[in-house]
Amino acid sequence: MPSEGSGSFVDTSVDIVSKMEKQTDMQGKMTIVEMMQEIIDYSEGNIHDIDHFIRVWAYAKTIGEMEGLDEKTQFVLEAAAITHDIACPLCREKYGNTGGRLQEKEGVPLTEEFLSGSGMSEDEVERVKYLVGHHHTYKDIDGIDYQILVEADYIANATENGYAPKDVCLFMDMFFKTEAGRKLLKSIFGLAE
Ligand SMILES: [Fe+2]
Repeated sequence: MPSEGSGSFVDTSVDIVSKMEKQTDMQGKMTIVEMMQEIIDYSEGNIHDIDHFIRVWAYAKTIGEMEGLDEKTQFVLEAAAITHDIACPLCREKYGNTGGRLQEKEGVPLTEEFLSGSGMSEDEVERVKYLVGHHHTYKDIDGIDYQILVEADYIANATENGYAPKDVCLFMDMFFKTEAGRKLLKSIFGLAE
């Protein structure tokens, strides 16, 4: 057993037991943490990609919880936030760029493959695929999960790329609909109420 406070040691027996417990939890459905580990492996050390989807996930989770989403919608939102840019490596290789439309097109079958065996219901998988396939499309947003994904991705892109506050303000007025998303964006960029 590791001594108290030895954070670098891992008790394998405990680890295996907790993994087994996780797998039986929710009728064997993959947890968000397990999904996160999978997509990090899938990213093959691309730190930019990994940092980005972790940021988008954190903002999506925060906005979703602030908005009081039900458990199922929150799960689908977080799964979509984790997988939304799954097509970036393929798009770089196949097209030499990660244009939004290309990502949406290529992301759908990759998400289906990624979530196969996840234990998620068919309608949850379909919704995550739909969200991945539309995350750069800002019209006909048909649900709170979609709306929050767009907001979370925008916040992450704006902070990573240093968007000018006046552009952020303009985008917020046009596309940010949730109170929580607007609140976070204003706070991060110091925008006036
Ligand atoms: Fe993104």
